[in-house]
Amino acid sequence: MHLSTALSRIAPSQTTAMTDRATQLREAGRDIISLSVGEPDFATPPHVLEAAKAALDGGQTKYTPVGGTSRLKQAAALHFARDLGIEVPTSQVTVSAGGKQAIFHAMLATISEGDEVIVPAPWWVSYPEIVRFAGGKVVPLHTHAKDNFRFTPADLEAQIGPNTLWVLLNSPGNPTGACLPAETLLGIGEVLRHHPRVLVMSDDIYAPINYTGGPHATLANLCPDLADRILTVSGVSKSHAMTGFRIGVAAGPEWLIKAMERLQSHSSGNPCSISQAAAVAAFEGPQEFLAEWCERFRARRDLVVSAINAIPGLSTPVPDGAFYCMVDAGPLMERFGDDAKLALHLLDHGVAIVPASAFGGKDGFRISFAADEAQLVEACRRIAEAVG
Ligand SMILES: Cc1ncc(COP(=O)(O)O)c(C=O)c1O
Repeated sequence: MHLSTALSRIAPSQTTAMTDRATQLREAGRDIISLSVGEPDFATPPHVLEAAKAALDGGQTKYTPVGGTSRLKQAAALHFARDLGIEVPTSQVTVSAGGKQAIFHAMLATISEGDEVIVPAPWWVSYPEIVRFAGGKVVPLHTHAKDNFRFTPADLEAQIGPNTLWVLLNSPGNPTGACLPAETLLGIGEVLRHHPRVLVMSDDIYAPINYTGGPHATLANLCPDLADRILTVSGVSKSHAMTGFRIGVAAGPEWLIKAMERLQSHSSGNPCSISQAAAVAAFEGPQEFLAEWCERFRARRDLVVSAINAIPGLSTPVPDGAFYCMVDAGPLMERFGDDAKLALHLLDHGVAIVPASAFGGKDGFRISFAADEAQLVEACRRIAEAVG
C-alpha cells in the first residue's frame, strides 16, 4: 500500500459506511429501514428530467467551460439573488460536481499547513476531513442540544486565533437541523470585522428546507461589507432532489472563484454537461413545489420528534430546518457503552441511523427523516423496542 500523507490524515465517510451496511443487510434479506442517508426521498421534478433529456438529444455531450456554462452561471446568479438575497455577477459564481466539490476545492485552494479552520460541531462529516486533507487544523466549536445546537458570536470569537483562516457555517445544518438566526449572524459579522484575515464558508445547501416561518438568513446578505471574504455554497442536490446529478454552485470573491476553477481545471474539469442543463431548469423553472416539500418534511419532523421524545432515555430538540434530528441517548450510554455500539444494536433491530460520534458529537445518533411516514412510524417503534 502506498497511501499519501494527505490521505492518511482522513477517514472514510461514516454516513456512507452506515448506508452501505444497511444496503448489504437488505440484500441479504433483512428488513432494514434506513434513516442514515442524506437525500430527499422525493422524485426529481419532471421538468428537470425533461431538460436533461433535451440536453442529451440536443448533443450537449461535450466539454463545457471548467466552471460551468455561462447559461448555468446566469441561472445560479439568479438563484443566489432570488433565494438567498446575494447579488453577484457571473464572474463571482462557479459550478462544480456537487456542493461537496465546491467546498473541497475552496479549502484545497486556500489552506496552507498550520492554518486553522473553525467548525461548529456536531458537523457535516466531510468538513473536518476536507480541512485535514488540505493540511489545515480543525478547531471544533462545540454546540449542545440544550441550546438547540446554536452558538453565540462570543462562542465563535473565543475560538478565533492568529492562525484562523476559515470559519465554516452551515444553516440549516446537517446533522442537527439547527438554523443560525439573523441576530446571531449579525453578531458574527461584528466579530469578523475585528478579524480581517478570516474567511467564511457559508454552506446554505439546505436553505429551502426551513421551518422557522421566517426568511432564510445568510451572512453575505446580512453583512454585504464582508462579502469579499464570504464563499456561499448552494446547489440543487437537496432542494430539488438531484443528488445523483452532482451539481453544486458557489458565489464569492473573484480571486477565490478563479482559484477554485484553477484547481477544478486539473481535477474533474467541467461538471457533467447534461446535469448542468438540468440544473438550469431547476433554478429557472417552477419553485412552488419547494414549499409543498417543506411542509411534508415538517410533518415528518413533528412525527419523529414526538415519537423519539416519548422513548425513555432518548430526547431531541426540534430542528429548525433540513431533514435531520440529532437524538441524545446519554442516559443509555451506561447500558450500551458508546453510540457506535448503540448504532449496531439498532441495526440489529432493523433501523440504520448514524452515531453522533461520526459528526464530532457524542452519545447519540442522527435520524434522517427523509423517508415516508409509514417507515418513520415503524422505525421509531423499532427504536423504542430496541432500547426499551
Ligand atoms: C451540509 C452539507 N453540505 C454539502 C453537502 C454536499 O452536497 P452535494 O451532494 O451537492 O455534494 C451535503 C450533502 O450531504 C451536506 O449535508
